[in-house]
Amino acid sequence: MISTETALKERIKELTCLYEVSSIIVNADIETLEETLKAIAFSVQKAFSFPEETEIVILIDGMNVVTSQNLDEHIELVSEIVVFNKLAGTISAHLNHLKYTKEDFLNEEQQLLNIIALKLGSLFERVQIRKNEMSLKRQMEHADRLKILGELTAGIAHELNTPLANILGFAELLKDNLKNNTECLADLDRIIQNAIFSREVVKKLMFFACEMPQKMTRLNIVPSIKGAIDLLDATFRKQQVKYIVKIEDETLLLNADPIQLTQIIFNLITNAIYFSPKKGLVTITTFQTDKDIVFKVTDEGPGLSSEALEKVFQPFFTTKPTGEGSGLGLSVVHGIVSSHKGTIVAINNPLKGTTFTVTLPK
Ligand SMILES: Nc1ncnc2c1ncn2[C@@H]1O[C@H](COP(=O)(O)OP(=O)(O)O)[C@@H](O)[C@H]1O
Ligand SMILES: [Mg+2]
Repeated sequence: MISTETALKERIKELTCLYEVSSIIVNADIETLEETLKAIAFSVQKAFSFPEETEIVILIDGMNVVTSQNLDEHIELVSEIVVFNKLAGTISAHLNHLKYTKEDFLNEEQQLLNIIALKLGSLFERVQIRKNEMSLKRQMEHADRLKILGELTAGIAHELNTPLANILGFAELLKDNLKNNTECLADLDRIIQNAIFSREVVKKLMFFACEMPQKMTRLNIVPSIKGAIDLLDATFRKQQVKYIVKIEDETLLLNADPIQLTQIIFNLITNAIYFSPKKGLVTITTFQTDKDIVFKVTDEGPGLSSEALEKVFQPFFTTKPTGEGSGLGLSVVHGIVSSHKGTIVAINNPLKGTTFTVTLPK
């Protein structure tokens, strides 16, 4: 039997603990959650009847906080921590099994653990909400940056268009005037070739910045995909990359600019081929949901580094050797997808490779 005085003392310890835990939680910092859990564990330990011999363990979110490391062969009291209606972890109290039995834990102690578990649950709900908010904020900042880059590149593209047209025009004129000078003609051809190349870069930049006129029509994405694959079949074979096409239905209609849609498909598949190892498999998938058409390209390549994950859609970001890549392909795709009010995301697959998912409204 426990005397009234002892019971009262226990009660005071519990209340002190609850008060302490509440203030620890109020001051909790999302960056140092492990410290917070540790403080809570030690506070709970003090509230138990045998504080020196009770060990507290909190398991949650990949963290494992203990008041002592020697925990084999213990009897325990457990409470589950529930976060958004899902079991997310536990808090438990442990006593040495040689000295104590389950009956040495008080009912009140189980209740105390339950209350602490509830508090931990709502703490981790807040943490999750905060993390979601932060990731949303990062996404918005990212979108803003891409938008500013788009506007900048649009400006640059405009500024370059006129002088480039002039270079081409005057070079053609000179060519006419120097018909008989073979040496000059060869140089002029080089000037013209380079000017044409630059004009192509400007065109891509304008795509990225959504400056190209759009011709939206009601069209079926399936022939566009098959057409692109036919054109790329030779490249697939040359690079010894396999592919598989998974089409849910022969007719998947959406509103899009046909040329721009082809450009999305082409760019994503070309990248997948380029980054695939020999014998690698590229999977091209398309299907529809209530509102959207989804187009996915998955490869078995090296995947994206954390830098690449952040920058793939920015103009001029490339990991290809100099001269091989302009780093404009995906920024063009991003521009086209945004102008169609769609979304594009790049993720690394669980095992290997990358998946690009384009979602376009029907
Ligand atoms: N399927 C992919 N696998 C791995 N990395 C990729 C893939 N697609 C794109 N990337 C990365 O994104 C960069 C930019 O791609 P992109 O805009 O198409 O330009 P480019 O192909 O000229 O490099 C690539 O250089 C590469 O680092
Ligand atoms: Mg590319």
